[in-house]
Amino acid sequence: MIKINENYQKLQASYLFSNIAKRVNAFQQANPDKKLIKLGIGDVTRALPDACIKAFHAAVDEMASESSFRGYGPEQGYDFLREAIAKHDFQARGAQVEADEVFVSDGAKCDSGNFQEIFSTDITVAVTDPVYPVYVDTNVMAGRTGKWNKELGRYDGFVYLDGNKENGFIPSLPEQPVDLIYLCFPNNPAGSTATKVQLKEWVDYAKENKALILFDAAYEAFVQDETLPHSIYEIEGAREVAVEFRSFSKTAGFTGTRCAYTVVPKECMAYTEAGEAVSVHTLWNRRHTTKFNSVSYPVQRAAEAVYSAEGQAQVKELIAYYLNNAKYIREKMEALGYECIGGENSPYIWIDSKSDSWEFFDRLLNNAAVVCTPGAGFGKCGEGYIRISAFNSFANVEAAMERISKVL
Ligand SMILES: Cc1ncc(COP(=O)(O)O)c(C=O)c1O
Repeated sequence: MIKINENYQKLQASYLFSNIAKRVNAFQQANPDKKLIKLGIGDVTRALPDACIKAFHAAVDEMASESSFRGYGPEQGYDFLREAIAKHDFQARGAQVEADEVFVSDGAKCDSGNFQEIFSTDITVAVTDPVYPVYVDTNVMAGRTGKWNKELGRYDGFVYLDGNKENGFIPSLPEQPVDLIYLCFPNNPAGSTATKVQLKEWVDYAKENKALILFDAAYEAFVQDETLPHSIYEIEGAREVAVEFRSFSKTAGFTGTRCAYTVVPKECMAYTEAGEAVSVHTLWNRRHTTKFNSVSYPVQRAAEAVYSAEGQAQVKELIAYYLNNAKYIREKMEALGYECIGGENSPYIWIDSKSDSWEFFDRLLNNAAVVCTPGAGFGKCGEGYIRISAFNSFANVEAAMERISKVL
């Protein structure tokens, strides 16, 4: 008899996006003439930078002739891309990362979801609340948690690190020892950013506890404040205790093109039952080469083009466009008397709705025909908040904010 992985039975259905879709459909059926403006999901709307498109086309042409055709590439990514990443994203900022510590992949969602596989199932995992749900669900699937606790609205077995108004959605260190810590800055959904001093505390904690930090920097390109870190490797000691996920999705509009990478420094260690140190780089290399067969050649060439002078200018312009949307949304919501986090170094604006998350969502949907994301969908601490995304055209953002201003 084929048996299932029982841990999947513990998973809570993702009510968030199905519930949003249900409410949006009902609204559209009742109001077929109203044009909805969607500021809910975190998908980009603008075209790929021209430099990427040119490189993409040229690489596709190379595939058309036998002399330049490429088959399977190196599982970890082509050297041309790994070297460009190490040089521009890290060494240029004073962070020590070598090309052979970069693992190119088809998404930070897969990487941040898969990385836990190389660790024991009896470790203690800390996640922030609110949280990007991938970190939670993949650990539930792996059997690192107990059941869903209805009363608490959380899984048993996780250590939840609460984000709230008092800490500005930058959770404090856990009170008990934990082994694996998921951090995401700039944060999805809360838009909060951690300073170097705050990250240093986490690095020191990880060193003291022989823990590992999985640092998701999918939104680093939105960091404008020069004092804020783009990478955890800007923090002294991080190479020993942190892995970093990056993505071209939000940086360069690759959500549909698919290219990302994970940095695993050679100093990073995890331990056997007997306390012997094992290289995380070696473990991840083994996992990655066994289960992954590299990103397509044209996509890697398109990603490489992000680092050309033309590409850098275009990416900057792309980010500035979304940040201008974010600034506009934040200013309008603040003028309406709502407290906001994010939108300055992040594409997300996290708004205290002063009411129930879903109630506020319904108000915006039914009265303004604008779709946002209820914060409660990202965890217990998200209750009372909504997330507005800046990924849309400025014309749509302007129209949405005008509608919202009239109904709030
Ligand atoms: C925090 C975070 N990490 C990772 C991802 C996924 O990135 P990718 O498109 O590279 O899979 C997202 C996407 O929304 C995200 O919000």
